[in-house]
Formats: sequence, C-alpha cells, structure tokens
Amino acid sequence: MQAKPQKNSIKEAEKNSDYGSRKVFGRKAVKLSQTQERRLEDSLPEVEIPFSTDVINPDQFFDSHGPLHMEIGFGTGEYTLSLAEAYPTHRIIACEVFKNGIAALLKKMEGKDFKNIRIIKEDAIMALTDMFEDESFDYIHINHPDPWPKKRHTKRRLIQTTAVELFERKLKKGGEIWLCTDATHYYDWMIECFNTSTGVELICDKGRLLDLNRGPTVMTRYEKKGLLKGRAPKYLRYRKRL
Ligand SMILES: C[S@@+](CC[C@H](N)C(=O)[O-])C[C@H]1O[C@@H](n2cnc3c(N)ncnc32)[C@H](O)[C@@H]1O
Repeated sequence: MQAKPQKNSIKEAEKNSDYGSRKVFGRKAVKLSQTQERRLEDSLPEVEIPFSTDVINPDQFFDSHGPLHMEIGFGTGEYTLSLAEAYPTHRIIACEVFKNGIAALLKKMEGKDFKNIRIIKEDAIMALTDMFEDESFDYIHINHPDPWPKKRHTKRRLIQTTAVELFERKLKKGGEIWLCTDATHYYDWMIECFNTSTGVELICDKGRLLDLNRGPTVMTRYEKKGLLKGRAPKYLRYRKRL
C-alpha cells in the first residue's frame, strides 16, 4: 500500500500529551431548542446505551447478533443512518459528545424503527476503554475527526498512538477501522500513528465511504462543507491482523 506520511513530530507532540486524562475536545453544544431538549429527554433513552464503567454485553441492546460497529464522533448522524439502512442486520453503536448532533440523529430516526442503532452520549475513548471487552468490534468508523491543525493542539486530536492501541485491542481479529479526513496534515498524522502498530495493516488508502460490499455511499455534513471549500476527503482502512 502506498500511503506515506510526511515526517512530522508525533513523538514530540505526544511527549507531554494529557490524552490519558480523558479530557474530550469535541464540539461544544450551542443552546438546544425545546424540541431538541425533548428529543434528548424522550427519544434518547429508547436507543441509548448508558455509559458505564463496567463492561456491558452489547447483545442486551440489540435484537440481532450481526457484525458490531462503533462510529466515533457521528456529528449529525448522516453516516450512522446510511450504515444502518444499508446493513439492517448489523449493529451500530454511535458515539458523540455534541448534544445538538445527538438530537439531529434522533430527529433523523423519528418515525423509523431502527433496531440496529444505539447511541452512547459520552467520550468514545472512555466508552471503548471501560464498556467493551477486547475483541468486541467488527468495524470502527471515524469520519472527519476534528483536525486541530495547530502544533500546540496536536494532543487534542482524537487519533493518537494510544488510541490506535485501544482500537486495535477492541477490534476482533480481522476487524477493520475506517477513517476519513480532508485535512492533509491529519491524514499524514493518522498514518504515522497507525504505523506505530504492528497489529494492524493498511488495506486501503482510497475509496468511498460505506462500500462494505460496494454498497451505497454517503457524504457526511462535514464532508459536504469541506468539498464546497475545495477540500477533498481522503480515506484510510486498516485491518487487525489475524
Ligand atoms: C468534525 S466533526 C465530524 C462529524 C461527522 N463525523 C461528519 O463527518 O460530519 C467531529 C465530531 O467528533 C466529535 N468527537 C470528538 N471527540 C469525540 C470523542 N472523544 N467521543 C465522541 N465524539 C467525539 C465531535 O463532537 C464532533 O461532532
């Protein structure tokens, strides 16, 4: 596979990282409308997997036993919904800290009986660490993580070598992690972080979202905004070695 990172300062940036302190650098909620508040109060409990510091059994939250996905930072949920519609027997756990985004996904789910989407409204790193056994997931999806381009903010990036280790642990053998960004520096950074792991291999550095089986494609809200500004998305896929 071709993807080559630029030389950058990953070691230096992580040296003093407080990544392990579990501070989340997600989007800040803007004031919620009454309808959004109501969705979070009334609709969320129906599909929520409450955060727990104990390990949970995902089977308790789904009717099917299909492949298990984790989407980290779903934003307003376009990808989540598309994945759930394309693969109704798969189980999708969607994690987001941005309340307006959670309300937006709940709105999209209204009137449709999605049995295969469940939401965790907390930091995905905490959720993965505490709530799931190792080798739980078939797929992890991360679309357009916040790029934090400034050097002094590199420790805020979701992708770090510690996160790669965590993803690798939580994936089943042969499980895949799909990533997408339109920021060149972040693409290079991701590659450099993943290159530190011998447990995963790069299987694809191009291709559209959502072609598990060459199925439908979807553009996330962030991706559309980026394209309008001339930023083309880049994709990466890694597989945990067998
Ligand atoms: C740039 S937005 C992209 C949203 C969406 N994936 C898209 O492509 O439109 C990144 C999202 O990740 C969320 N996020 C950041 N860190 C997170 C974390 N540790 N756990 C869950 N969500 C997180 C942010 O709140 C934000 O909504």
